[in-house]
Parts: sequence; C-alpha cells; structure tokens
Amino acid sequence: MRVIIQENYEKMCHWAAWHIASRINSHTRKTPFVLGLPTGSSPVGVYKELIQMNQQGSVSFSHVVTFNMDEYVGLPHEHEQSYWHFMHQHFFDHLVDMKKENIHILNGMAEDPEKECADYEALIQSCGGIDLFLGGIGVDGHIAFNEPYTSLRSRTGLRTLTAETRLVNSRFFDNDPQKVPTHALSVGVGTVTDAREVVLLVNGHQKARALSATVEGGISQKWTCSALQMHDNAIIVCDEAACGELKVDTYKYFLDVEKAQRLP
Ligand code: GLP
Repeated sequence: MRVIIQENYEKMCHWAAWHIASRINSHTRKTPFVLGLPTGSSPVGVYKELIQMNQQGSVSFSHVVTFNMDEYVGLPHEHEQSYWHFMHQHFFDHLVDMKKENIHILNGMAEDPEKECADYEALIQSCGGIDLFLGGIGVDGHIAFNEPYTSLRSRTGLRTLTAETRLVNSRFFDNDPQKVPTHALSVGVGTVTDAREVVLLVNGHQKARALSATVEGGISQKWTCSALQMHDNAIIVCDEAACGELKVDTYKYFLDVEKAQRLP
C-alpha cells in the first residue's frame, strides 16, 4: 500500500487527478480504460481538475468506460440527491468527449434489485474488469456503501445503511436523517478490490480514525476499508488533517518512502 500525504485538500485532489489522467493516457490495451467512480464531497475537487484537463485537451475520456460505486434505493435520476444526478452535475456533463453509453450507474429504482446488481457485476466482467477504482471513505471506514461487518468478499448487492451513515449523509437531506434512504445498491468490497488499482481519497479530521484503521489496523470486516491491505496496488491519497490518528512513526515512514521514490 502507498500512502500519499499532501498538505491540504487541493494538493491531494491535484495529485489524484494527475495520477488518474496519466493512467488513462498511458493505457495501451485496445479495449477501453475502465474507471470506477465514487460520489460524496471527497472526489469533487478531483472531478474539477479532471474536467479542466479534459477541456484543455490533456486527457480524453473518449475511450473511458465508467462504473459508479453506488446509488440510493428509491431515488429517481432527477432527484437532486441521487448519485446519478450528482455524477452528471459534478462530472459527466462537463466532459467534452465522454460517451453517454459508456457511463454506468446502478439503478436505485430497479424493480428487481438483485438482478440489477448481478447484471452490473456481469457487465464489469464483460468490460474486462476495472482498471482503476477511485473511492472515498465513510467516517466508519465504509467503502462504497459497504458498512461495518459487510463481508470483505462481497459483490454488488443491496445494502442497509447504518444510523451513523444516515446521520452523516443527512447534511444533504435538510439535516433530517429520516429523509435519507434506508437502503442502497452498492458494489461489494470484493468488486472494489478486484480492480487492478484502487485509489482512495481520505481528507479531513473526521476521517482520521478511518485512515488509521485502513493503514494501521488489522484486516477486519468492522472496517471494510482495511481490505485494501490485501491489495497489490492500493494508493491512499490523504491530507494532513486526516493523519491526526496515525502514529508518528507511520506518518514519517510514508513521507520518507515517497520522498525516496522520487528520482533525483
Ligand atoms: C457515502 C458514499 C461513499 C463515500 C462516503 C464519504 O456514504 N456512499 O461512497 O465515500 O459517503 O463521503 P464524503 O466524501 O462526502 O465524506
């Protein structure tokens, strides 16, 4: 696991956007580059930078296929808090060459959620698997909507949201946890860790415990983020504020390693 510690949120987003763009640009296989994407406030700065790079011509999305991580059950596309709406508002609508047919987002209104989820997994497979999965993290360490005690091998499926997640996400629903959907469709922990590379964005003091659990804790279904410790190509990109619960030794270790990797 690499841990990239940046001074602040802006620098962290810059690093992640640059990394994603360079992966897309250096993709040489004939098949499209398959990108997994999150919602939430963490990736907004990354999306802004990628949009800018795309509009300036330094990265093209014409050969990129995307799969989003999750979607609330019961919210139609046009609902302001649906992740479909979020992704179009903050990202897809601003890209100059993203093909609509290459965008995949779970349908939270599906009549048969089980089939919707099984089809989504199958579609990811038929596209050759995910090249890079970008993710955020919940304060309880959830990745996508894989709450504590979700199997670390889980696949795409229906999830029940915890009271804590509904409380945290109520900031988007008039601060009323009752208005936050109780369920979501989500890729599994196993779906994320199957990706050839995973990049996780972790910023702010409120994520400090989750970052410590991701990097220093034992592998446990209590912190689904800890599954990344088993991944060969996991990169955590974080800001200083999120490092508040890391041991000084851990913090120094990752700063030193990254410095040493830079060629003179
Ligand atoms: C939601 C999403 C996650 C996201 C998390 C953190 O619960 N389902 O995919 O990572 O929130 O959100 P934020 O980045 O706003 O802190």
